[in-house]
Amino acid sequence: MTGSPSSTGADSPDGGPVLELRGLTKVFQVGPTTVTAVDQVDLSARRGEIVLIMGPSGAGKTTLLAMIGGALRPTSGSVRILGREITSMTESDLTDVRRHEVGFIFQTFNLLESLSALENVQVPLNFAGVSGSAASERATGLLVNLGMESRLNFKPDELSGGERQRVSIARALANDPSLILADEPTGNLDSDQGHEVVALLRRIAKEQGRTVIIVSHDQGISEVADRILRLRDGRFTAPQTQAG
Ligand SMILES: Nc1ncnc2c1ncn2[C@@H]1O[C@H](COP(=O)(O)OP(=O)(O)OP(=O)(O)O)[C@@H](O)[C@H]1O
Ligand SMILES: [Mg+2]
Repeated sequence: MTGSPSSTGADSPDGGPVLELRGLTKVFQVGPTTVTAVDQVDLSARRGEIVLIMGPSGAGKTTLLAMIGGALRPTSGSVRILGREITSMTESDLTDVRRHEVGFIFQTFNLLESLSALENVQVPLNFAGVSGSAASERATGLLVNLGMESRLNFKPDELSGGERQRVSIARALANDPSLILADEPTGNLDSDQGHEVVALLRRIAKEQGRTVIIVSHDQGISEVADRILRLRDGRFTAPQTQAG
């Protein structure tokens, strides 16, 4: 598998999957109650692939995504991003992977309310050591590419839901990650805005060669996925099938 020269993102050094999960498990213990939120999950995703993970509330979707993105340590099992095992990394190596290889998109956007659209997109660039005009040019380019050229200086509360989600997509793309993780990205949007957002995510996967993992219970977005997996009680329930 070789990448097209015009694309960003990357395969793992051996040309293997961008993301590989093996036996991924998270057990929470709250007082006397044990919850196996994610139970022995295996998954492999390629460059440019868009995978939709659907499941009811409490199925373990957010927990799974948090472990993939290195925000939550698994109880057992492995997460490989570009061939690198992240579960045994030190905090500082993990922070580095999170910053450079993973972009997160949330249902509630998680934008900083006091900052403009442009400034919100610059935040992760600043954390990665890019500042000044380089950061502002990169952030502007990302927002323009998502149709936000006339809203650069608007604050989140001056934007529609769909526009806010586009800012958060631009922010997720800031450091050119291989992997985009989206947790219910259409959850706070009406169906038109939701379709627009998932169409953008598909474009990001296909044109830019990134791997996009969406977790959702929004049945209306299933047509954008290359693959749909069903999660229930922390496990995939049906064999992995190709969509459409
Ligand atoms: N920090 C935690 N401590 C204890 N239990 C937790 C924790 N986080 C999640 N759980 C439990 O793990 C299970 C899966 O939670 P998770 O948030 O992953 O579900 P979800 O599929 O994202 O649900 P929703 O669609 O409602 O967002 C739930 O039963 C929840 O109570
Ligand atoms: Mg959730």
